[in-house]
Amino acid sequence: MFGKKKAKAEIDKEQLELIENAQKRVKQKKRLFVHFVIFLIGALFLIVANTILGLGKDFTILGKEWFVFAIIIWLFLFLYHLFNVFVTNRFMGKVWEKQQLDKLYNMQRARIDAMKREMVKEEKLMAESEAYRESLEEEEKSNVLTIIVAAGENNSIGKDNKLIWHLSDDLKRFKSLTSGHHIIMGRKTFESFEQPLPNRKHVVISRQPDYVVPQGIEVASSLEKAIQLAKDDTQPFIIGGGEIYKLAMPLADKIEITRVHHHFENADTFFPEIDAAVWQEQSRVKHEKDEEHDYAFSFITYVRR
Ligand SMILES: NC(=O)c1ccc[n+]([C@@H]2O[C@H](COP(=O)([O-])OP(=O)(O)OC[C@H]3O[C@@H](n4cnc5c(N)ncnc54)[C@H](OP(=O)(O)O)[C@@H]3O)[C@@H](O)[C@H]2O)c1
Repeated sequence: MFGKKKAKAEIDKEQLELIENAQKRVKQKKRLFVHFVIFLIGALFLIVANTILGLGKDFTILGKEWFVFAIIIWLFLFLYHLFNVFVTNRFMGKVWEKQQLDKLYNMQRARIDAMKREMVKEEKLMAESEAYRESLEEEEKSNVLTIIVAAGENNSIGKDNKLIWHLSDDLKRFKSLTSGHHIIMGRKTFESFEQPLPNRKHVVISRQPDYVVPQGIEVASSLEKAIQLAKDDTQPFIIGGGEIYKLAMPLADKIEITRVHHHFENADTFFPEIDAAVWQEQSRVKHEKDEEHDYAFSFITYVRR
């Protein structure tokens, strides 16, 4: 029950052919050897028959005993046999050689066809990846998805669906950067505005299929769809709030943050942490506290590493 099964000796067709041909070859050589021995004995017999036993003693050709000619003729016959075995009938025979050549030719043909098919496949793949890379480069060149936000030192951004501070220079900067572009926002941020902001294309993200907005404002059911609506814009902006910033962080190319140098403990909405391994600071401009601004703040630009 637990014993190993005996391995069956398997000889394939090609091996069988080789064995048969080798056997044939051995037979041919054996016959040649037998012929050689008979030739030697025969020649000796002819010499003995003529010279010792006196057989045909008086019969000569061109003055030579007849056995000399008989041996020479036999020698030619033997040489012809030798020639046949070693020269005319080459190792496995002509048919076998032709079969081998045909087999080799077919194998090479199949390999060349397979290589051709592989090359066509590779060319297609290369063309596809090249087109994909070009489309990515094109997108990168033409579209910089930018997050714009103002956040306290503790990443606070709002409370009760409102901003916690009023910084006029920050609002001016927001206006100058976003004017003429798409501004993508969550439904709650949109509702925190008294009215839509002028000179900007609003895209509001909401899960509500029947969410009603004023004319000219677009609604998207996801951030990806909102970005798609702004695909022709060279720099669409994600303007908040907390939920949408969180979704946009992995997709954005740039962050324009106004860091307000204060901890707002009463906030209820926050900006995600900016990971220094992902984002590189590109520029920073500080604005001190003054009569019009209750807090000092810095305009900082981050780009994706
Ligand atoms: N400091 C700043 O720079 C700044 C900027 C903007 C906003 N804010 C503040 O941020 C606060 C608002 O932020 P928030 O986080 O409460 O709200 P929000 O991000 O503005 O909007 C949240 C809403 O967006 C929609 N939404 C979210 N995820 C979605 C998804 N995956 N698919 C489809 N729709 C989705 C939902 O709308 P539905 O409920 O309709 O489905 C959700 O209720 C306010 O206090 C505001 O003043 C601050």
